[in-house]
Amino acid sequence: MSNSLVDMRSDTVTRPNEGMRQAMASAEVGDDVFGDDPTVNRLQEKVAGLLGKEAALFVPSGTMGNQLALRAQTRHGDQILLEDGAHIFRYEVGGPAALSGLLTTCIPAPGGILTAALVEAALNPDNVHCAPPSLVCVENTHNGAGGRILPLKNLREIAELTHGRGLRVHLDGARLWHAHIATGTSLAELAAPVDSVSVCFSKGLGAPVGSVLAADRDTITRAHRFRKMLGGGMRQVGILAAACLYALQHNLARLADDHTHAARIAAELDNALLAVNHPVETNIVIIDAPAPGGDVALLAHLAQWGVLGVGFGPGRVRLIPNLDTDTAGVDRAIAALNSYAGGR
Ligand SMILES: Cc1ncc(COP(=O)(O)O)c(C=O)c1O
Repeated sequence: MSNSLVDMRSDTVTRPNEGMRQAMASAEVGDDVFGDDPTVNRLQEKVAGLLGKEAALFVPSGTMGNQLALRAQTRHGDQILLEDGAHIFRYEVGGPAALSGLLTTCIPAPGGILTAALVEAALNPDNVHCAPPSLVCVENTHNGAGGRILPLKNLREIAELTHGRGLRVHLDGARLWHAHIATGTSLAELAAPVDSVSVCFSKGLGAPVGSVLAADRDTITRAHRFRKMLGGGMRQVGILAAACLYALQHNLARLADDHTHAARIAAELDNALLAVNHPVETNIVIIDAPAPGGDVALLAHLAQWGVLGVGFGPGRVRLIPNLDTDTAGVDRAIAALNSYAGGR
């Protein structure tokens, strides 16, 4: 057993390997604010193609990709609808209200899985008293729900309903890669029902920075302007886009290993004090440690074994096996979990 830390706090904690650093160092670059960076242009074209959209825009983070999608496809005072645990609502610093003046309606859905019926029930009526609905946001995979995959059937039904009412649909696909690898469904098919989709390279794919927003050309033109407004116009940023291209080429198929590791943790958890509270479909494991302070006590116990997770609300701990997690690390995490005896 290695003595190094097994860091499963997130899939964002990985460090670029030598190959990725080489790709970054040798990237062809130009001033991307002038549209001159060939590596950024290559990434944008490649990702637009993979996602089956007309155009794409490289942005520093998933948060910026999501917030630009909202800003570009709504007007101040509109209603947007999303699942109650959605990252856009919970963890993007109130961006929908602060940046786009939006009224957010959150829809609690079992397991984080939105349905068209739930969306329909939450749509504001066409009525002078109400904020007009303009955008529904979905998340696939759903971080807060433990990496659950949004069934394509649900997404198609949501899009059919909302498009029929003149609304648009945005997909927060920070971990869409995982849904693709777990189901074998192409990225383009997973994104086909939606108008815009953001994907992240700095999570399971292991790049240090970078997300892409893809959509129709008009939406991307508007998003491009707002990116500049928010200070997201970057210059010789091909050195980052090169890391994303490297990640796509080398780290996409191997996400299956992270899924296997997460499934093993869930399957081999054997401790009456702990339970996995959701089906583990991809790379996220959320563990209930419910005694008062159970999350704090479990994190402290894991740390003694050199295993790091994060608190995910009272009595909950999240572990995400990632690019830097090997079989020995998973073995150690399982042994640590199974030796947890509770208490503070
Ligand atoms: C589902 C989801 N969307 C968006 C984001 C935001 O990504 P970033 O941290 O790059 O802003 C995250 C980050 O964890 C996420 O999990």
